[in-house]
Amino acid sequence: MAELSTKTVSTTHQPMLANRVILVTGASRGIGAATAKLLASHGAKVIVNYNKSAREANAVVEHIKEHGGSAVAIKADVNSESEVKKLIESSVEHYSFIDTTILNASPSFSIKSFVDYNWHDFEKKLVGELKSAFLICKEVVPPMVQKRKGNIIAISTGLSRHPVSGFIAHSSAKAALDAFVRSLAFELGPHGIRVNVIAPGLVETDATAFMSSEQKDAFAQAAPLRRVAMPEDIAGAVLLLASSEARFITGAYLPVNGGTQMV
Ligand SMILES: NC(=O)c1ccc[n+]([C@@H]2O[C@H](COP(=O)([O-])OP(=O)(O)OC[C@H]3O[C@@H](n4cnc5c(N)ncnc54)[C@H](OP(=O)(O)O)[C@@H]3O)[C@@H](O)[C@H]2O)c1
Repeated sequence: MAELSTKTVSTTHQPMLANRVILVTGASRGIGAATAKLLASHGAKVIVNYNKSAREANAVVEHIKEHGGSAVAIKADVNSESEVKKLIESSVEHYSFIDTTILNASPSFSIKSFVDYNWHDFEKKLVGELKSAFLICKEVVPPMVQKRKGNIIAISTGLSRHPVSGFIAHSSAKAALDAFVRSLAFELGPHGIRVNVIAPGLVETDATAFMSSEQKDAFAQAAPLRRVAMPEDIAGAVLLLASSEARFITGAYLPVNGGTQMV
């Protein structure tokens, strides 16, 4: 019997995201930072967008470079039309065509019941969430249409489908984001562009640092996987949808919550 020849088995693989240029909004901290690092470790050139945390954004870029990757930090408030235009111009100047965009940055909000909300605060969250997604997509989509390829992933929340007291503004804003994504997926699919939503449950980031460890433990115990998410867990799901292995997935809503809420 002939010996199995190892020569016939190719062991060289291109990195999963080789030759890809990926913009991650709000990548100085939390989920965005973990996502930027993971995508870069799989070969993507990453634009690390930030607004206020320059030091943290530069640290993300340094980390990526130290591990042999390529990244650039670019400051822009994603709710400002002129800053978004400059962000995209600078990104394209640096790396050329942006084939993938992760809509991660999101306006902060107050946790309070409907009776305590006023329209101004509610509107701020609702408009802020949609405005950044709209402005970024206005800039990145036309070149994607021209090249007939592109990938957009929005970070929503499980709360967009499963309400929790105090989160009415966040839930409403993210539900609108989900609908925006579905419409984009429908409209842009014929142009070869995929658009999907990732819906995390509770994630350990600065945004959830106000919660007590008892509250977090209670969440963990309610999850079939018995823990809360780390930013890297969400980054893993982004990698999944960003990769060409997900090439027939569009308009999807992917919960990443350890099984807390199943769809
Ligand atoms: N943490 C959770 O439990 C959880 C659960 C479900 C969904 N999510 C979603 O996941 C996403 C990331 O959340 P996170 O917990 O990672 O937040 P985080 O740790 O508070 O980080 C927020 C990031 O967004 C950036 N950012 C905020 N406003 C911005 C603006 N106007 N322009 C540009 N960047 C801006 C911040 O940058 P600077 O500091 O540089 O301003 C920072 O990098 C959000 O969409 C959030 O709704 C989070």
